[in-house]
Amino acid sequence: MIKQAIIPLAGLGTRMLPLTSIFPKELLPINGRPNLEYIIEECLAAGIKQIIFIISKKKKNIKEYFFKDQLYKKIIKKKKDKRILNEYKKIRKYRKIIKFVFQNSPKGTGDAVLKCEKHIKDKYFLMLLPDDLIIKKNCSKEMINLHNKKKSSIIASMKVNRNSVSRWGMLSLKNKNKNNFKILDVVEKPKINESPSNYAIIGRYILPSKIIKKIKKIKPGHGNEIHITDAIKALIDEGESFYGNIFKGKYLDCGTLSGYINSGLEISKVKK
Ligand code: G1P
Repeated sequence: MIKQAIIPLAGLGTRMLPLTSIFPKELLPINGRPNLEYIIEECLAAGIKQIIFIISKKKKNIKEYFFKDQLYKKIIKKKKDKRILNEYKKIRKYRKIIKFVFQNSPKGTGDAVLKCEKHIKDKYFLMLLPDDLIIKKNCSKEMINLHNKKKSSIIASMKVNRNSVSRWGMLSLKNKNKNNFKILDVVEKPKINESPSNYAIIGRYILPSKIIKKIKKIKPGHGNEIHITDAIKALIDEGESFYGNIFKGKYLDCGTLSGYINSGLEISKVKK
């Protein structure tokens, strides 16, 4: 059973400037709701019981969004506004399952995982990168199902345009069928002619807790950051089994300005 999810949120959001100069990108609204709420709902629907948010001092208002509730209380006391009451109930529900840890300098996804070391309880945990929204089908749920079947680590993947491989972690694979494949190797942001395939890593991972030991040993890689991709590579090289899950939902890029604008439009088209 996968019960814990971790969400790195300490990044600077430079690809989203100017919107992120004073505001965390994860709280920016997408069709009327903060990006982060879509991610929390995906986790809840996939059976996750605890979510660890990795924030930084600069992004403390993510914590405030869930915990600073004087305004709600004041308004609810004054008048019975059903909508506000429901929003408040939702925030309180989220509060029960979220925990915060701090990563004060943005040293990469691997470093973010390290900050959760004391809190990770089970053999496997889920990690979601909130820049990547996947709508229409619950990707985390699909991955947990595949994990239960294969008893392996899982990475979400989709086919990308050859010209864009240097934006992603890329996968080398075998035994591909419609929904999944075995991962032979991973490489972070390769040059076009060095990518092992057109299958990219998308920000959903089911990782073994033993990856923490590996992260402690790896050196900073691309962009001088400690990448989870490099720790995954070290585990694969040691024989750890990883599968790629070709997810069924629709991918939305919420980490760039143009992608963010498009995400709002796409989500507004989805029927509730
Ligand atoms: C991160 C990962 C990369 C992955 C991507 C998915 O990159 O390092 O392997 O393909 O997320 O969005 P970033 O978006 O932080 O540059």
